[in-house]
Amino acid sequence: MLRKAPSPRYHGLMRVAALLLGAGRGERLRHALPKALVPLDGQPLIAHALATLEATPEIDLVVPVVPESEQRAFESALAVLHDSGKRWPCVPGGVERQDSVAAGLRALPEDVGWVAVHDAARPRVRVADVSRVVAAAREAGAAILAVPAADTLKRVRDGLVVETPPRSECWAAQTPQVFAVDLLRDALGRAAAEGRRGSDCSQLVEALGAPIRVVEGDPGNFKITAPRDLALAEALRVTDS
Ligand code: CTP
Ligand code: MG
Repeated sequence: MLRKAPSPRYHGLMRVAALLLGAGRGERLRHALPKALVPLDGQPLIAHALATLEATPEIDLVVPVVPESEQRAFESALAVLHDSGKRWPCVPGGVERQDSVAAGLRALPEDVGWVAVHDAARPRVRVADVSRVVAAAREAGAAILAVPAADTLKRVRDGLVVETPPRSECWAAQTPQVFAVDLLRDALGRAAAEGRRGSDCSQLVEALGAPIRVVEGDPGNFKITAPRDLALAEALRVTDS
């Protein structure tokens, strides 16, 4: 089933919100602090993407989604940062990433028509790339940043290669991923009803058969997952945006 893109005229009047997801624990980073509070360049990790999203002209408001048990710690950490006036209070996230997305969506005011979901764990995202993916979503109804796969990818099961998808068709998905709010709500609702989990929002929207535009992003917008990624990010201070 293919869904039609939402009417650009109606959605053109609606505000664009960013959900900044920082509610994960960061098990693989093995740090004493929750991942989004781990320092990078002397600031909590979440502060970097927060500043970039706030600096993006197309983004009207930014909602940080944080671990429920650490809400106070996050509020204090963010309170000392420069506030562009777009920042909303922290919203407690859920057990899994898509629960955190759902919690963020519930907190959005009614005049928000577009939502850019971004991982706080991607501190090096650039303003220009956020702008481009928002613009693409406004045209197509949904858009994600992604980079072409450099390596040949294998589908592997039980330690054995199952197949090799053509490399030219393989891209690594990043965030922001931008959707019409109603589309993402439908996708989350359907996934919950069917007990499906996705490792990103796009996967859940794909299941509705909706078109999702792919916008080529920057390899520097990688996700901090393991300890060595922090050193890599330190080496990649953003000089331009
Ligand atoms: N995230 C979230 N809520 C969750 C799980 C993840 O908001 N329940 C967010 C994380 O804070 C992160 C992003 O989703 O910014 C991507 O997830 P991932 O890199 O897996 O982060 P963690 O889940 O924190 O790390 P790990 O899987 O190693 O525990
Ligand atoms: Mg995780």
